Amino acid sequence: MRLSAYFLPTLRENPKEAQIVSHRLMLRAGMIQQSSAGIYSWLPLGYKVLRKIEQIVREEQDAAGAQEVLMPTIQSADLWRESGRYDDYGKEMLRIEDRHGRDMLYGPTNEELITDIFRSHVRSYKALPLMLYHIQWKFRDEVRPRFGVMRGREFLMKDNYSFDTTYEGAVDAYNKMFVAYLKTYARMGLSAIPMKADTGPIGGDLSHEFIVLADTGESGVFYDKAWESQDFANMNVNYADMDEVNAIVERYTSLYAATDEKHVPGEAPVPEANLKERRGIEVGQIFYFGTKYSEPLGAVVSTPEGGDVPVHMGSYGVGVSRLVGAIIEASHDDRGIIWPEQVAPFTVGIANLKTDDEGCTAVCEDLYAKLSAAGIETLIDDRDERPGAKMANLDLIGVPWQVLVGPRGLKSGVVEVKNRKSGAVEEMTPEAALNRFAS
Ligand SMILES: Nc1ncnc2c1ncn2[C@@H]1O[C@H](COP(=O)(O)OP(=O)(O)OP(=O)(O)O)[C@@H](O)[C@H]1O
Ligand SMILES: [Mg+2]
Repeated sequence: MRLSAYFLPTLRENPKEAQIVSHRLMLRAGMIQQSSAGIYSWLPLGYKVLRKIEQIVREEQDAAGAQEVLMPTIQSADLWRESGRYDDYGKEMLRIEDRHGRDMLYGPTNEELITDIFRSHVRSYKALPLMLYHIQWKFRDEVRPRFGVMRGREFLMKDNYSFDTTYEGAVDAYNKMFVAYLKTYARMGLSAIPMKADTGPIGGDLSHEFIVLADTGESGVFYDKAWESQDFANMNVNYADMDEVNAIVERYTSLYAATDEKHVPGEAPVPEANLKERRGIEVGQIFYFGTKYSEPLGAVVSTPEGGDVPVHMGSYGVGVSRLVGAIIEASHDDRGIIWPEQVAPFTVGIANLKTDDEGCTAVCEDLYAKLSAAGIETLIDDRDERPGAKMANLDLIGVPWQVLVGPRGLKSGVVEVKNRKSGAVEEMTPEAALNRFAS
């Protein structure tokens, strides 16, 4: 992408309305624009990151055996009356009346709708286990939308729903999702600690929240300080082997971690000296809630022994749009965002430090063409701007690798390759820079 043609409305000043760093940086980097309280448009740079996060979530759901569907944002109130949640949900639900006077709503979550799909088609245990997920916008009329996309009213969520004949089967599904979540967040460069959690309005009796530690987080959490040296690096798992899956769950649940709603002072199995109290950002939550929806909605399957049972269900949410903010909270410095490479909008940024110098322009254009041809997402700053402004801009928008091309270096045949995270700069020939990324 050429920066001269890219729609990147960056801001020089810190926007007054933004209280936390991720919100400030998302506005300053031209990623989002508020359209009304808690509702945002995603501009090209922000949308690119959102899609990368979404894709990692999708790949890990697919790997764990879930199948992607797409349910609508607008739902009929009738289904919610069947489950009893139409009245319970209260003011967070955006209620709409269509032209025929029928009650509709903008979905805050999808347990009812997915259960309706299930009951329309599945009658036998033979079709189970089954996991269906979608990645779709939700609306919750939050009392206090704030912190940008972290607590929006409209937000993008991945929600997966599992269906099993037995409790044991449902726990297998739960454990697969537990592992899929660890892998998902690790791939984004995040350490998300699974914490014992309250089940809230979704109901049920088994739940974990995945929490990224951050002082700006809205959740209070307690955990064994050993979590701080826990390894979240990519793990390989064969989902067909439940022993392997369960061993990972056991390993990551053996250390204490709980949200403040679940934590009972004095009763945590951790020596007082090792118990940490901090704040964190909830980036996902998984639930087992048994037959809470299948019973009232009549989602039953036949069993091998004969007779019908209501299906055992779980639901598994990831805050896809919140993750954009959470990653920035976890990875930034005074100069701007530091994208982990896996979610970076561009892998390489080329700054032509002297656009009216033929040599500089030739090297930049050649690198840009070759990197692009090699499939490396590259942003070239070909604008007529001061070198300092160009470098500051690449730092602000967080491009992980930056190639700085100036006349002084080219005289001795080199360009500078800078790592955004470490700040380390290496001089090398343009060919070496190309090989560094394109090999
Ligand atoms: N208002 C919101 N804005 C952005 N993301 C959200 C919002 N509400 C929930 N999420 C994300 O969706 C995920 C799954 O939804 P869930 O129903 O568990 O949310 P929740 O527990 O109500 O969230 P919270 O406690 O933060 O209000 C959450 O873990 C979170 O990452
Ligand atoms: Mg939650």
